[in-house]
Amino acid sequence: MSDIRIRPFKWSKDFNQILQVAREVWFADKSHVVSTLNTVNFMLHYMNQATTLLVAVDSSDRLMGILGLTNKVDRPEFRKNRFICCRARFYEHAAKALLYFWPGALNSRLFNELFFANYDRLRKMVPDLSAPEFLVMIVNPESKGMGVGRKLVAAGEEILRNQGFKSYYLLTDSSCDYGFYDHLGMTRAVDVNMSFSIRHVPEYDHYLNCFLRGLVYTQDLREPHQDSAKDQ
Ligand SMILES: CC(C)(COP(=O)(O)OP(=O)(O)OC[C@H]1O[C@@H](n2cnc3c(N)ncnc32)[C@H](O)[C@@H]1OP(=O)(O)O)[C@@H](O)C(=O)NCCC(=O)NCCS
Repeated sequence: MSDIRIRPFKWSKDFNQILQVAREVWFADKSHVVSTLNTVNFMLHYMNQATTLLVAVDSSDRLMGILGLTNKVDRPEFRKNRFICCRARFYEHAAKALLYFWPGALNSRLFNELFFANYDRLRKMVPDLSAPEFLVMIVNPESKGMGVGRKLVAAGEEILRNQGFKSYYLLTDSSCDYGFYDHLGMTRAVDVNMSFSIRHVPEYDHYLNCFLRGLVYTQDLREPHQDSAKDQ
């Protein structure tokens, strides 16, 4: 754990590395252009809302992971710099628009629409919606199992605790490594089926025509983590 350093996100240093990691973790099975557009659209959707963006880096400042969270009170991080704010918003919306026209991007576009609609429904089930939200967390596959995720969670929680918050929540689904949150002893507050079924997509698609479980986890910041090896 000693080689892992947590520091604030820097656009010029970290943005491209984050896209590479997120692309590898979430969209590697798509064509290069479609996966890049998806990655930019997804990551910036969350990063543009984040009031805190932390990265974990190794001793050579190589990216090991990222955590984005919002306390829903402060201005999002990117809005503090007009240049970055404009750029990040432009990239997010340009990627979304291009997905509409790019040949072969139809299924990705349909999946994204279902994904965001399902997550909007899931968010309505959150017990305390005024609490801060952990928006996105990814660890570089090469750095998995080295304590990076645990360190990012601890750093995010420390920031929220210092800001006076008592709890937070996060949304995830069964396509993610949600067992990590069980392992940290977070409370699984919601566990529901989400449908990604679209009848008019005739051919089998890994993402469309499937069911995922939608999960909401909550954590009381006044309690230490009750690490457990709860089964999924
Ligand atoms: C989930 C994720 C963030 C975990 O990061 P990580 O750096 O590999 O986790 P750590 O090394 O800090 O693990 C901390 C503990 O959690 C356990 N753990 C990690 N992933 C786990 C999983 N999927 N299920 C159960 N336990 C898990 C580890 O064994 C470790 O246990 P220990 O400290 O008691 O020995 C990472 O696997 C990841 O980025 N996954 C892909 C993206 C994703 O699913 N993000 C989260 C949901 S949106």
